[in-house]
Amino acid sequence: MNKQDIIKNLLPQRTYEPKIGEAFAPTNIALIKYWGKRNDELHLPVTNSFSITLPRKGTRTILDISTTNQDQITINNQSLGEGKAYQKIVDYLNLFRPYPTFRFSLKSYSNIPMAAGLASSASGFSALTLALNEMFSWNLDRAQLSILARLGSGSACRSLWNGFVEWQVGEREDGLDSYGIPYSEKWPELRIGLLIISENEKHIGSREAMQSTVQTSKLYETWPQQVNEDLSAIKSALKEKAFNRFASIAENNARAMHATMHDATPSIVYNLPETLALQQKIWDLREQGLDVYYTQDAGPNLKLLFLERDIEAIKEHFPNCEIVAPFPNNK
Ligand code: PMV
Repeated sequence: MNKQDIIKNLLPQRTYEPKIGEAFAPTNIALIKYWGKRNDELHLPVTNSFSITLPRKGTRTILDISTTNQDQITINNQSLGEGKAYQKIVDYLNLFRPYPTFRFSLKSYSNIPMAAGLASSASGFSALTLALNEMFSWNLDRAQLSILARLGSGSACRSLWNGFVEWQVGEREDGLDSYGIPYSEKWPELRIGLLIISENEKHIGSREAMQSTVQTSKLYETWPQQVNEDLSAIKSALKEKAFNRFASIAENNARAMHATMHDATPSIVYNLPETLALQQKIWDLREQGLDVYYTQDAGPNLKLLFLERDIEAIKEHFPNCEIVAPFPNNK
């Protein structure tokens, strides 16, 4: 089973009349992390994961036919030369060329830092999938688009919806039951604070980091069990709107994920000295009674979790923090 088999299944042969495809997709922040694949090629996860979408932070992508003999890829007005990022996108586009010499022109605009553990690949690949859906008039539903986005980057399959989303692990070998499921629960008072510590490219991408952790970390053996427990606990905290329980489960889950990475050989450490200092600051503020927690992905940056009532205190203690409301206008 490879990616082409999945594409054939979802997109049976049709005649395509390509037109310009344009789409926006938001990024999402995992509160219970996806860490480790059971199938590297199809990006099939070992466990479920659970995220919150940041509705206005993400990527807008415009797809057209290239008039040259190369895919033209421009991100934030910078043309991508041959390299890892270019190749990752070209590999994905290869799955969808209507004929072998077909070349794409892709322009993307992102309002989140790239490759710094702020889930830019999540919004990038889901926006690209939505733009392809429009370009070739596939008319696929969200679950099918989620499966296709997953083939670009795992976390992208949660970026097809606003609000809370759970990516279900699925059982099938072809992964056709492994996609995002949106929740109806909303939490209008919830706030996410983006603390950018570094916008530099990560020294090791999440793909390799995941692989190496699964292969070499002893601690990883307990990770699937931890995720199952954390998921059911965070869901019940969400139902009861028990913020401290909800956010501390998310923080612990992120710390446990990083522990599995630290335990890999060679050890994978995304923390910078500023990351550790900010974590300490968050714990100190919590000791003093402020309900603030963090989550952290495969990078040095932190995302704060807090409630609307504490916005002023957060602004005072973290003046550089960008505050995002996941449910704007209570929607
Ligand atoms: O989708 P990827 O390959 O960029 O992996 C994302 C992994 C984490 O961001 C660390 C966790 C997650 O669930 O998003």
